[in-house]
Amino acid sequence: MSGQRVCISDFEDEAKRVLPKAIYDYYRSGADQQQSLADNTAAFNRWRFFPRVLRDVSTIDLSCSVLGQPISMPVGVAATAMQRMAHPDGETATARACRAAGTGMMLSSWATSTIEEVMSAMTSSPGDSGVMWLQLYIYKDRDLTLSLVRRAEEAGYKGIFVTVDTPYLGRRWDDVRNRFKLPSHLSMSNFTSATLAFSEGSYGNDSGLAVYVAKAIDPTLSWTDITWLKKHTHLPVVVKGILTAEDAIQAVDHGVNGILVSNHGARQLDGVPATLDVLEDVVSAVQGRCEVYLDGGVRRGTDVLKALALGAKAVFIGRPVLWGLACQGDQGVSEVLELLRSELRLAMALAGCRSISEISRSIVRRVEFTSRI
Ligand SMILES: Cc1cc2nc3c(=O)[nH]c(=O)nc-3n(C[C@H](O)[C@H](O)[C@H](O)COP(=O)(O)O)c2cc1C
Repeated sequence: MSGQRVCISDFEDEAKRVLPKAIYDYYRSGADQQQSLADNTAAFNRWRFFPRVLRDVSTIDLSCSVLGQPISMPVGVAATAMQRMAHPDGETATARACRAAGTGMMLSSWATSTIEEVMSAMTSSPGDSGVMWLQLYIYKDRDLTLSLVRRAEEAGYKGIFVTVDTPYLGRRWDDVRNRFKLPSHLSMSNFTSATLAFSEGSYGNDSGLAVYVAKAIDPTLSWTDITWLKKHTHLPVVVKGILTAEDAIQAVDHGVNGILVSNHGARQLDGVPATLDVLEDVVSAVQGRCEVYLDGGVRRGTDVLKALALGAKAVFIGRPVLWGLACQGDQGVSEVLELLRSELRLAMALAGCRSISEISRSIVRRVEFTSRI
């Protein structure tokens, strides 16, 4: 281990040193020119705090809930595929860290550990208590899709986050150059056929994952498929990948339990806005009819506070978890989660918010930029 890690970018720097280049590139990349990737983090810098003082901030309560499940802080883990490329324990290490932190983990459909083994890593670990959700890609094969849902229900997952922004995979230049595919000792463990497990196939000169998606994932998806999914599960359903008020209203009209404002970590359509920049539009369109969360570019406790002030019920982090995993397995992910927790606690105290319910819109204002040209 190198020097002390004091911020999320220290984890990324170390991960970059330890990971093979093609794996680091896959984790880091955004789509195309990566304009939205840069914007996701930059958007947080366009807001300033207007803190309240003299409020006895000696005790700060970070507890909150997602889909009715209590969690210890409003920061959960977003679905990121193929975590065993970062560390041999992969998703099971992330689950242990979430359990220890008392927060929730969204397991990718494309995990390199099974739905069941990740749940058992979470439930058998010491610590507070965590919660598991399944991120669902809808496959052309609907029976296969429903079998994932069924397995999650049986294993005790608490919700389905259905990804709606990936009819095709965004074009990530490094993955094309690297002809990205899984290392040969790994597979997408939830599938038995080698083709669906992404461990066999011919991918030509392209990103292997882009070829996989074109073959397996259903690009015909429409709102009626959300109704279909709701009909086939008793679990709450969250749509992951909403960026407009119009789609937020559609989602609510189709009975979803939550909306995750997400641009897939800027890995799909380049040129979309930063998620923070559309959060308020979505929150006001939804008018409290379902929960609204955000992911994309959250790297500091102050980012979490800004997103909550703008109406998010909770936020999720993607890449920071992969950096933690690469640095030190479950211990690294725990460090990432505890870093964000302590940063958020400090930011709330300094802004005069003693609990999540005291975080209000009035503590942030957008910086107005004037052009010098
Ligand atoms: C390496 C990587 C893999 C991802 N895999 C998935 C996935 O399998 N399913 C999914 O819905 N989103 C996936 N995402 C998107 C994340 O769930 C999340 O939206 C995004 O990472 C949040 O942005 P952040 O990385 O800036 O925190 C992935 C993101 C990354 C970086």
